Amino acid sequence: MAKERTLSIIKPDATKRNLTGKINTKFEDNGLRIVAQKRMLLTKSEAEAFYAVHKERPFYNDLVSFMISGPVVVQVLEGEDAVAKNRKIMGATNPAAAEEGTIRKEFAESVEANSVHGSDSLENAAKEINFFFSETEIVG
Ligand code: CMP
Repeated sequence: MAKERTLSIIKPDATKRNLTGKINTKFEDNGLRIVAQKRMLLTKSEAEAFYAVHKERPFYNDLVSFMISGPVVVQVLEGEDAVAKNRKIMGATNPAAAEEGTIRKEFAESVEANSVHGSDSLENAAKEINFFFSETEIVG
């Protein structure tokens, strides 16, 4: 296993309920390090661009509206096998299908308001990290 970096977003449903610390504890307790982090309000065009791969999906417009409905915390997580590890810590996209102990099982409200986003591959992780962070903002 290699040391990897992945992009994580704590979504508006979670920041509204003041869950940033509890979610970060899940990452840290499972061996991921938060090597960059910023709280921000996404603009509509940023949210549209970030989720451009889902442009043709029926949920795209609602997803963009949701992602700009409140603050998000964007972060870079680092560790062994970080992309897959983070997906395991998050749990399934739909919280109804997520395993016990995962972030989405414990905190998510619905398939849309599912508390966290995590990159789905190493290749997308690099693109997504680059979308939000410059190399000098990431301190490993
Ligand atoms: P995320 O991992 O950020 O990637 C795309 C997001 O679209 C997903 O989490 C959900 O928040 C949202 N979404 C809304 N409806 C659906 C759906 N039916 N299937 C998958 N993702 C959905």
